[in-house]
Amino acid sequence: MLTQLPKIPDERGNLTFFESDCHIPFKIKRVYWIYDVPGGETRGGHAFIKQNEFIIALSGSFDVVLHDGKSESRTQLNRSYLGLYIPGMTWRSLSNFSTNSLALIVSDLDYDPADYIRNFEQFLQLKNG
Ligand code: TYD
Repeated sequence: MLTQLPKIPDERGNLTFFESDCHIPFKIKRVYWIYDVPGGETRGGHAFIKQNEFIIALSGSFDVVLHDGKSESRTQLNRSYLGLYIPGMTWRSLSNFSTNSLALIVSDLDYDPADYIRNFEQFLQLKNG
């Protein structure tokens, strides 16, 4: 789900923000960012069992490719006031990073390697039974 965040235009520079449980449907537990991605590289390529996340292109652009177990969708994030909500049990990867792009990811859980599904076939089986 693509969300348009508040944008406070100002001739001194624009400002955008978001808050837990208001603009995003969870409480923020962890924030990380992906940067200095070499051309052609892909990040992600997994699903989370429980974790929900919200991804913003703070700078530059990249594609988020999602698979819900039935079909694939691709969303280009290229504005720092747009965020993509990704619920748990969604296969996701980030690709097509522009030079100097900066991906901000906020999550409702601490880092937990046990929450990752890294095998797509296993993801499909868990999702579709
Ligand atoms: P990972 O989530 O696998 O990145 P990607 O899916 O983009 O390939 O994380 C890469 C490495 O970073 C992995 O060894 C775990 C570590 N990591 C943390 O220690 N804490 C974190 O919050 C995250 C997101 C990753």
